Amino acid sequence: MSQNFNELQKKRRSIYVIGKNVAVNKQEIVELVKNVVRESPSSFNSQSSRVVVLFGDDHEKLWNIALDELRKIVPADAFAATEQKVNGSFKAGFGTVLFFEDQDVVKGLQEKFPTYADNFPVWSEQASGMAQYAVWLALAEKEIGATVQHYNPLIDQAVASTWGIPASWKLRSQMPFGSIEAPAQAKTYMDDDARFKVFLG
Ligand SMILES: Cc1cc2nc3c(=O)[nH]c(=O)nc-3n(C[C@H](O)[C@H](O)[C@H](O)COP(=O)(O)O)c2cc1C
Repeated sequence: MSQNFNELQKKRRSIYVIGKNVAVNKQEIVELVKNVVRESPSSFNSQSSRVVVLFGDDHEKLWNIALDELRKIVPADAFAATEQKVNGSFKAGFGTVLFFEDQDVVKGLQEKFPTYADNFPVWSEQASGMAQYAVWLALAEKEIGATVQHYNPLIDQAVASTWGIPASWKLRSQMPFGSIEAPAQAKTYMDDDARFKVFLG
């Protein structure tokens, strides 16, 4: 079914009840992620975004790492709720996309273009956001639900050692995805008047 861009934007929501009943196979998802991130813009076409895609045991391992790290800092009486959230909304899914930004690329740009030195870390974050949103939309188009999570920097060390991530790759977000087992709740929108100014000339 063809859909226009705004319809696709509305379809992309934070989906917290996800499962493993995904009709798209792993290889297709990998290609989708690669194609989308490859075509995402970056400052000076620096292509600073790095991505790891986890399925199966690797996906489950990620969320076990998050639980292990959370157990160290969450009060014991609150941990059951934390565990329920991580297991139900993230580990229950089909896979997770990890988004990184390569700090060696950022440093290289700062050295090459000192005039913009302060901007490159900001632009790297913006590029990451664009890549994340593009992947989120592309997954939604395939009827795959996802959320964006931020267990970094808590999990950074364990993630790096488990999957041999280069030291310069800085983890920016985790995107657990899977079949949509319950729709997102209705969301509210602020007034356009408070948000947009248009000058027609
Ligand atoms: C930069 C950014 C950071 C976010 N961080 C989290 C997060 O850590 N955990 C989470 O559950 N949702 C996170 N979200 C999702 C937002 O809460 C969500 O997009 C927003 O409430 C609107 O809902 P929607 O995604 O269903 O449209 C984040 C979204 C953005 C854009």
